[in-house]
Amino acid sequence: MKESAYRKALLKHGADILFSPSMQSEKHFLQHGRVSVFTHSIAAACTCICIARILRARLGIRLNERALIRGALLHDYFLYDWHIPDRTHRLHGFFHARRAFENASRDFALGEIERDMILRHMFPLNLTPPACPESILLCIADKLCAADETLTRTSRYRKISRFF
Ligand SMILES: [Fe+2]
Ligand SMILES: [Fe+2]
Repeated sequence: MKESAYRKALLKHGADILFSPSMQSEKHFLQHGRVSVFTHSIAAACTCICIARILRARLGIRLNERALIRGALLHDYFLYDWHIPDRTHRLHGFFHARRAFENASRDFALGEIERDMILRHMFPLNLTPPACPESILLCIADKLCAADETLTRTSRYRKISRFF
């Protein structure tokens, strides 16, 4: 997929999230390697868009692209730097999905799919499995991005992320 196609989809469905002050603050929080939570979230959203479009073209499987993009953008909306030692950041892996969900429902109107995506994206570390196909896709996309960012210490989606 071309960069312009990703940008167009992100702008169409997630502009309000991407340009919000809290989401912009994610640029200052590191996620994996030298990749910020902001760029990681865009990478997860782009990976979801790419796989969803392949599923649709090859297998006729139709996912809700708007929910997919919004849920992926907000999946790590926990809004702190988990590398900084602090009592409230303890066991980040286990608790950040809940924190992201609470922040996201405070700041944006979430649909059923987005809620499930954010709350369940840490499966199997968080034991409740995803309930919709969009959440399963995010689970996979998030892990692919995390592995790539940890190994390369950068993101292949950083140019798209800089646009926002
Ligand atoms: Fe996460
Ligand atoms: Fe993530």
